[in-house]
Amino acid sequence: MISFRMLVFVVILTLGFAGRFALAAGDAANGEKVFNQCKVCHSIVEGKNGVGPSLFRVVGRKSGTVAGYKYSDAMAKANIIWDEKNLDAYLTDPKAVVPGDKMPFAGLKKDQDRDDVIAFLKAKAQ
Ligand code: HEC
Repeated sequence: MISFRMLVFVVILTLGFAGRFALAAGDAANGEKVFNQCKVCHSIVEGKNGVGPSLFRVVGRKSGTVAGYKYSDAMAKANIIWDEKNLDAYLTDPKAVVPGDKMPFAGLKKDQDRDDVIAFLKAKAQ
């Protein structure tokens, strides 16, 4: 017999995992606040490059392909599609995903912040 306690435990565990993998569940409004940390270097306006390349339509884009932006060799050759999964990994630890990249950013350690900023980019950087 499965005890009630056991059942509650399993449900909580399942919900926890579902939450972690449901990357699309980010909150774009909060993501806009998280994006304040990116703004010093990135714009979401097409063609507007700063210290970093424009993030216009970045979700689904191939890495290192913004015209007129001078990427590091590492990023130019990375050959990554910035889907939600790869963006999540890159924003967790940029140097682990693209060793030798030149993004001077340590990463977003909170799962929720990454989900939210990706949701923001999907919704607004279009
Ligand atoms: C201090 C400046 C700076 C900050 C802050 C910063 N970035 Fe970057 N970012 C860069 C630079 C520079 C590059 C280019 C890296 C290269 O060429 O190696 C880059 C590259 C990227 C790329 C790859 C783009 C492409 O065209 O392949 C993504 C995605 C990205 N940044 C997202 C973000 C997000 C999201 C944030 C905020 C959570 C952020 N960055 C914060 C400077 C920054």
